[in-house]
Amino acid sequence: MKTLLKNPSQILTLNTNGRGYKRGLEMNEIKVLIDHSILINDGIIENIIKNDSIDQSSIDKTIDLKNKVVLPGLIECHTHTAFSGSRAEEFRLRLQGLSYEEIAVKGGGIVTTVQSVRESSFDQLLETIKPRVEHFISQGITTLEIKSGYGLSFYDEIKLLQVIKELDNFFKITIVPTFLGAHTFPPEYKNDNDKYVDLVVNEMLPYVAEHNLANFCDGFCESTAFSAEQIEKVFSKAENLGMKLKLHTEQFNSIGGLETALRMNATSVDHLEVIREEHTELFSNSETVAVLLPGVSLFLDYEYAPARKLIDKNAIVALATDFNPGSSHIANLHLIMSLGALKMGMTIEETISAVTINSAHALNLSDSFGSIEIGKNADFAIFDAMDYSEIIYNIGRNLNVMTMKNGEVIYSNV
Ligand code: NIG
Ligand code: FE
Repeated sequence: MKTLLKNPSQILTLNTNGRGYKRGLEMNEIKVLIDHSILINDGIIENIIKNDSIDQSSIDKTIDLKNKVVLPGLIECHTHTAFSGSRAEEFRLRLQGLSYEEIAVKGGGIVTTVQSVRESSFDQLLETIKPRVEHFISQGITTLEIKSGYGLSFYDEIKLLQVIKELDNFFKITIVPTFLGAHTFPPEYKNDNDKYVDLVVNEMLPYVAEHNLANFCDGFCESTAFSAEQIEKVFSKAENLGMKLKLHTEQFNSIGGLETALRMNATSVDHLEVIREEHTELFSNSETVAVLLPGVSLFLDYEYAPARKLIDKNAIVALATDFNPGSSHIANLHLIMSLGALKMGMTIEETISAVTINSAHALNLSDSFGSIEIGKNADFAIFDAMDYSEIIYNIGRNLNVMTMKNGEVIYSNV
């Protein structure tokens, strides 16, 4: 079955000639083609052809993309979409002046969502989460990472990972599961944190690995959560079990998480709002992706991660929503790109690399996703625009009108 995506105004290929990421200022090289069309064969990109050399006779289906911009399917590489309940009350308290950390110390925050998730059945969670995934698909997202981390007991963490697996079966997009048992300490281990670390290491991780329930092991290194030593213990076990690593770190405090994660070759380190100046150098030749989450800075109203500095130091930078109920109740990746440009000094081109090829690298999937190259999966986000800058300029408006996964239209609004 051959499909032709005919004559879009622009195709942004994000070509890396097989390297799978863009580092530093290379993030500006998004490779814009005009007067070209894309040929898809059985879900794979077969060719990118000049419009005047198309042989129409071998084509089964043509999709006219006049006045549309084609990007690789967007990759959302950091979300906590698997939750139930609402933290609107906490949002109200923050507007009255209480900080996110003060709320966490008082026993609110993440633990409030944990309570709700524990009270929700598998089916209730599934039905609550499905519309959220649909909303991501409508934005052109074809690969979506979802973390556990709101169960924090053996039963409830596994329940969340099974829900995420079921979502992957149900939807045509790729859903990447991440195990975040080391998110925070549940109330029942409040006075014996190390015992909870043992539970994660000795019981949760072996089960997760044996049943193939997660691609990544993630953690939260923070003074209100896990120390760098505790993270190292969790990561060593995960590594022995063959899992890849990610870490939430330098969100509010710099307590050694970044050094631990880089030393252990984590696939990504996420947040970095308070990264120390001297640590930005560490990314210069590292393949660890710096995943920045400007939605958190907006939602909690504090400083943004130093994207400009990291890119100038030659880092591989990605952007994500961090969609979650407490620190970034923002499920809009286009808004995140606009924040990257407006608040973190990124160019428009850099924000595009950050949600395509580099976010694919942050999920270890850039062999198949994240750029429009021959042999890669035919995953596309198609925007109603003459020029790609409109995507970032139209803040809060969804210009994506068609989402394609493996050559199939899975969302259309044309
Ligand atoms: O990425 N940093 C820790 N975890 C989430 C917040 C989760 C929550 O508040 O529910 C984050 O910001
Ligand atoms: Fe997060």
